[in-house]
Amino acid sequence: MQTPFIRFRRLRRNSVIRDMVQETRLTSDGLIQPFFIRPGEGIRNPISSMPGQFQYSIDTLIKEVAKMYDAGLKSVILYGLPQHKDAVGSDAMSEDGFICRAIRRLKEQLPELYVISDVCFCEYSDHGHCGVLTADGVQNDATLENLQKQVLVQARSGVDMVAPSGMMDGMVRAIRAALDKGGFPELPIMSYAAKYSSSFYGPFRDAAESAPQHGDRKAYQMNPANSNEALREVEQDILEGADIVMVKPALAYLDILRRIKDEFRMPTAAYQVSGEYAMIKAAAANGWLNEQAVAYETLLSIKRAGADIIISYYAADFAAQL
Ligand code: PBG
Ligand code: ZN
Repeated sequence: MQTPFIRFRRLRRNSVIRDMVQETRLTSDGLIQPFFIRPGEGIRNPISSMPGQFQYSIDTLIKEVAKMYDAGLKSVILYGLPQHKDAVGSDAMSEDGFICRAIRRLKEQLPELYVISDVCFCEYSDHGHCGVLTADGVQNDATLENLQKQVLVQARSGVDMVAPSGMMDGMVRAIRAALDKGGFPELPIMSYAAKYSSSFYGPFRDAAESAPQHGDRKAYQMNPANSNEALREVEQDILEGADIVMVKPALAYLDILRRIKDEFRMPTAAYQVSGEYAMIKAAAANGWLNEQAVAYETLLSIKRAGADIIISYYAADFAAQL
């Protein structure tokens, strides 16, 4: 028998040499933590399907985020649960609306924190769909006009970046135009460019109280079976002015992430969504998985697949550890 000439094990013998040849590294720079906020004071409601995550009022959020910021977390993305929901989600289009007040208070208290806002209407409308709803479904073009109003009030409230998540056609172009015309030509857009109609969003819809009252989001979010279409979605968003493109969910769509990174070489984000988090938590609670190790492995995989930026409910934990 011939002995092997090439031996991969030579570079695996101890941690010094393993670390030396490690190709991918997770750093705290690219991590963004999502938060759910609601009106009131002193609130920290546990989210049952997402152990370790809470709905906060703004005062408790500021305290929590200040600690996380000191520990290394630099950026957050906010989801608002307003008191007042109506058919169009008008709270989201008002500078006195809940999310704008939250942005202002957060930036006042923590000016260095990089605050990203989700731009969509499912959390603000009484029907839970991502735009203007008629008997004929969610109206794309009418929603674009509302998205323009929404980003402008958020921009005036001091948000650092906007992240449209509603999968309306032409949304990036409409938002870019509104921001440029409104005096915010340097405010970046992170587009949820390839957002799939996924069952992994289940726990989020509890947390954000944003489940559609009837129907689903298949008429605007992507079919999980499609991959070429994701490239076309991303290409279109780049042409319309997106600064960062996102793939969502992450773990079940690593192939999409890799194709997009290779094809466009854009700053690319991936969203490790609520269901991905909940699965790890549930298995860990049963003693079936080592939570820290599995969470780290998933984040590393997302990075390896091409993500520069990862939105994750583990972000604050890992930013503190890294
Ligand atoms: C709303 C939105 C959703 C998520 C982020 N923004 C849910 C949805 O489309 O139903 C999901 C995030 C998660 O599951 O963690 N447009
Ligand atoms: Zn939405």
